[in-house]
Amino acid sequence: MESNTAAPGDNRVKALNQNLAQTRRAALMSALARKAFRDRVKALEIGVWYGAGSTSIWLENFMPGSDVVLLDAWRPYASAADVSGDQFGSANWDYAKMDSLTSEAFLSAFLNVRKFENEQDDKNVSLIRGKSSALLPMFKDGSFDFIYIDADHKYDSVKSDIVNAKRLINKDFGIICGDDLERLPTAELVNLAREYKDRDYIKGDFGYHPGVCLAVSEEFVSVNMSDGFWWVVCRNGEFLVDDITLEYLQAD
Ligand SMILES: C[S@@+](CC[C@H](N)C(=O)[O-])C[C@H]1O[C@@H](n2cnc3c(N)ncnc32)[C@H](O)[C@@H]1O
Repeated sequence: MESNTAAPGDNRVKALNQNLAQTRRAALMSALARKAFRDRVKALEIGVWYGAGSTSIWLENFMPGSDVVLLDAWRPYASAADVSGDQFGSANWDYAKMDSLTSEAFLSAFLNVRKFENEQDDKNVSLIRGKSSALLPMFKDGSFDFIYIDADHKYDSVKSDIVNAKRLINKDFGIICGDDLERLPTAELVNLAREYKDRDYIKGDFGYHPGVCLAVSEEFVSVNMSDGFWWVVCRNGEFLVDDITLEYLQAD
């Protein structure tokens, strides 16, 4: 059962949790949205939260006339293992607190979209509430030029989001990208990830999101990654890493 137990005025929690797009990643994400597409796009974001992090990057950087679909379950999703706060999990992340903020995040996402529309009404923005595994199958093949995956980071969920994204991406030219791939997959990381499918994050000697690492390793031969942000280009039905490189994104 969802509860909204955030103390009113708990600005520390709000400040920590509203914008989950980190500064270095944000610069890269902005560059990708601007440089990869010179015309309007059909974009899908899976995992919106307050609509104050990645969402604002897409809204500010895609060309006028773009269609932006924002999809989020806005309901608690932490596993019991994550909430347990044992030595494997993240010491810096309060999963129970995040789960308690889902109603506030949903309302804030709506208000942030309205604020954007009041200031700069040049895109068609749709907000959809529901689990990605239930909603994504409703879209037609090749519906989107751009798909950003940043929802539940546990294995089953990331796997399902990537499998759906591969079907939904424009096969002539499209980009699938996502958050929280801190380390490119290695045999060691992938093997460890198989033991922690119910985890958002594990500390270990590595500090990474095992579900993201394992699902990416299974679904792509290779991806680009910088500072946890990962991306791959689909061109003529093939998933490529050298079409849009980090150097290209970082160049003026
Ligand atoms: C890491 S946050 C997204 C952060 C956001 N992209 C940002 O930059 O601020 C993950 C989001 O995924 C959503 N989520 C979790 N499970 C989901 C699911 N099965 N389907 C859709 N969204 C889900 C959560 O409600 C949460 O808002």
